[in-house]
Amino acid sequence: MSRRAKPKASDAVRGEWLRRVEAEYRSSSITQHLTLWLTQVGASPDLVKAGLRIAADEIVHSDLSYRTYVAAGGTDAPRITRESLAFSRTDEPLERDVTRFGVEIFCLGETVAVPLFKELREPCTVPTARRALDRILRDEVRHRDFGWTLLGWLTEHPMWPELEALIVAELPGWFRKLKASYAPVGVESSAVPDEDRAWGLMPLDTYRACVDKAFERDWLPRFAKVGIDARRAF
Ligand SMILES: [Fe+2]
Ligand SMILES: [Fe+2]
Repeated sequence: MSRRAKPKASDAVRGEWLRRVEAEYRSSSITQHLTLWLTQVGASPDLVKAGLRIAADEIVHSDLSYRTYVAAGGTDAPRITRESLAFSRTDEPLERDVTRFGVEIFCLGETVAVPLFKELREPCTVPTARRALDRILRDEVRHRDFGWTLLGWLTEHPMWPELEALIVAELPGWFRKLKASYAPVGVESSAVPDEDRAWGLMPLDTYRACVDKAFERDWLPRFAKVGIDARRAF
């Protein structure tokens, strides 16, 4: 195989990129939802505009992921599960739901996404996949920052004492969920062939390492800045 030849795409490659199409749709939909709530609670125009821009980015990510799936020989349509594409309101004040979803999805999810996509992109050489990962990684940095700006805004909100207590109470559960999806206990990490890595896949071990890295580099210091000790929650 010459260095420039496109490596053959496996079923794992097609499965993963189709899953990403679905996940990006979900990201767009829930960001629209959160941004609507932010508008309803009177968040700053900058925050609302940033949310709307992210929702549009996620659709671009989905499109780029679908192009990669097709380039890999995929022909199926993504399975869009409507129920997972929206948040459910609790019967508590909207500010509490904004806090719940904003912190879990952005301060946790989009923050770990940065090291994850960095690792995925590194050995990725197939042009369509690389283009998708280039764009996603570039945007993910801004998406991460949105979460922490939102948290900063919440610290200045009159409800902050109770919102802070909510975060402290929920943080262990959010970390548990995140670890279960990226670093499940008891699941063996199997090697990923170089061809699959060239298409932008990576082994479970690397996902786990990224979660640990995000904890030391991001979660611990960033939560500490708003007076929350994340150590005991992780
Ligand atoms: Fe995305
Ligand atoms: Fe994102």
